[in-house]
Amino acid sequence: MLRLVAGNWKMNGSLAANRALLDQLVVVPGVEMAVCVPYPYLAQLQDRPSGLQLGAQDVSEHEAGAYTGEVSAAMLGEFGCRYVIVGHSERRALFGEADLVVGRKARAAQAAGMVPIVCVGETLDERDGGQVMAVIGRQLAAVLDVVGVEAMARLVLAYEPVWAIGTGRSATAGQVAEVHGGIRAWLRAHGVDAKRVRILYGGSVKPDNAAAIFAAVDVDGGLIGGASLVAEDFMAICRAAADAV
Ligand code: PGA
Repeated sequence: MLRLVAGNWKMNGSLAANRALLDQLVVVPGVEMAVCVPYPYLAQLQDRPSGLQLGAQDVSEHEAGAYTGEVSAAMLGEFGCRYVIVGHSERRALFGEADLVVGRKARAAQAAGMVPIVCVGETLDERDGGQVMAVIGRQLAAVLDVVGVEAMARLVLAYEPVWAIGTGRSATAGQVAEVHGGIRAWLRAHGVDAKRVRILYGGSVKPDNAAAIFAAVDVDGGLIGGASLVAEDFMAICRAAADAV
């Protein structure tokens, strides 16, 4: 399975800064690279290095209509988005996105021919309370309920422990492998063709820890926040993903 490394620019960038970043980005062979950008920049990203996939960071669960401020999956499709992040912990925590809504957004993205990158992960309190797989299982079950077993195998999952996001404190390779294995076992137990599902890790992935994380069992790529805004760092992480056996 070709690894996927997706940059999550979050609410960062400007026309000038994006251009400078894109001018320095060289597509790395042996890995699939994507950038998930703020909506207004989807137009600018029509001009990007060939082979660099495009994605968004959210999508409406609705098809069209009176939903002020929302952006539909069909609109993202018109701009050539292949991927869309759904259920990022920042959206869950700061914008009250419930598990069920995350499932509906994943369904909307798939209905428009895109691949949702569904984020799951526990807070530090939940980890300390021994709730890691209970929380992730609840998050996954909500998506499975909405999309069904067959479609579940066609999405990308991202394990993003909340305590590791933007903190500089990455999960260890051992912790990542344990949870990714747990996710794959959960999928199998629920009838999903788990070996087809790419499971990314996200949370303070940097050039200096990327190789160890990608070498961990069951890690099929990364979702990269801060480091994806620096071309050299993003490419170094992509090279680490391409080189990992
Ligand atoms: P980070 O963010 O790499 O800056 O920790 C990852 C993410 O939130 O997707």
